[in-house]
Amino acid sequence: MIDEPNGLVSPDGRRFHPAALGLRGVVRVPGDKSVSHRAALLGAVNDGPLKVTGFLRSADTLATLAAVRALGVTVEEAGSELVIHGSGWEGLGEPSDVIDVRNAGTLMRLFPGLVASLPFLCVLTGDASIRRRPMARVLGPLRDMGATVAGREHDSLPPVAIRGGALRGMRHELAVASAQVKSCILLAGLRAQGETQVVEPAVSRDHTERMIRYAGGRVEREGPPDGAGTVRLWPVERLKMDVLAVPGDFSSAAFFIVGALLIEDSLVTVENAGLNPTRTGLLTVLARMGASIDVENSEVSGPEPVGRVTASTSRLVATDVNADEVANVIDELPLFLLAAAKAQGVSRLRGAAELRAKESDRLQAMSRLLRALGTEVVEHPDGMDVIGDPNGWAGGTIVTEGDHRVAMAGAIAGAASRDGTTIDDAGCIAVSYPGFVRDLEALGGL
Ligand code: S3P
Repeated sequence: MIDEPNGLVSPDGRRFHPAALGLRGVVRVPGDKSVSHRAALLGAVNDGPLKVTGFLRSADTLATLAAVRALGVTVEEAGSELVIHGSGWEGLGEPSDVIDVRNAGTLMRLFPGLVASLPFLCVLTGDASIRRRPMARVLGPLRDMGATVAGREHDSLPPVAIRGGALRGMRHELAVASAQVKSCILLAGLRAQGETQVVEPAVSRDHTERMIRYAGGRVEREGPPDGAGTVRLWPVERLKMDVLAVPGDFSSAAFFIVGALLIEDSLVTVENAGLNPTRTGLLTVLARMGASIDVENSEVSGPEPVGRVTASTSRLVATDVNADEVANVIDELPLFLLAAAKAQGVSRLRGAAELRAKESDRLQAMSRLLRALGTEVVEHPDGMDVIGDPNGWAGGTIVTEGDHRVAMAGAIAGAASRDGTTIDDAGCIAVSYPGFVRDLEALGGL
């Protein structure tokens, strides 16, 4: 399904009808994808068994469990609860075959950092979308730290190969804010000689830093919490966690939050939503647009803050999102663009060229989606202008390009439409949120 040539309607195509009575109710979204990947990877090198609760069971994160098992780690699974039997880096062994990350970009970027200090060979590949994702940004720093690395097209694309070695800490300046690249370098730095520094031009999600600290490691950030900064990390002898709670995924919650704003007569509460401030930039953007959203920051779940978010039907006005804000809204930008299509005025997105290197070229996929709804857009190399119309849209046929977030945005567009949408490939939603259609239906969509 994900490997299908762009534009073909697969057997997984389906229709999303208008939610005539609004979206109403309480929903508990599944575990955070980014945190679940990190739980599995750091659990693999944990000193002793780690119990993980709230683990996301999706195509991406199950690929990470398979990758961890390929290193010889035992993982017991009981629904969203796992016990990962780590015994430090010493407990890992050479995989006997190529590791298939499927559609999981986070696994493709973080795994090389985890194994970069180990004296054996790991080869990683993935689906057609993964094999187009830039890899020089992680292979370059790992090589500078002392690992032997290679990849297709002059070490720039998967498949990639890593043969680890003795690593030295170093200072690396990221060209663009990327939590995947930062995390890869930090994971390698845990086993390097001396301090490792990653300079980021804007703050990116900090789940890796929080989890390393929670496990007893030392990592600090210098710089303002909402701007450029330097992450400093020191090597560890061991990481020790007993229990780790994965919060609900804010990126999944965001579909219902925006759905509630756009659909008449809606009132939706999302429980157990991860509220890490490096992830919730969409809430700031939507507040500027006049959204009615209430956040109760209730507790800390392991290393991560969680809470309840309630959203209701709102009249939105246009706003701009620029480069300094992009990192904290990166995965929610499709939803921002959808909200902009129903806002009064012209919204502008800039500094978001990274969207072209996601599961699909998301700028292109979203301009296609919005045009299919009848919205006027102007695509730019690093963003888009969206000419909003509060009257909304009739509906249309959505080409997802095998991208789970485009597919879910298309489903919400259908629920918010007058006639409904048809999604060419709803199967790809399983990459991050296999129960999405069921949860949308429970709130009154479909
Ligand atoms: C992620 C980081 C982001 C994000 C991706 C998950 C992570 O990617 O888009 O969905 O878990 O670290 P970049 O690091 O490429 O910005």
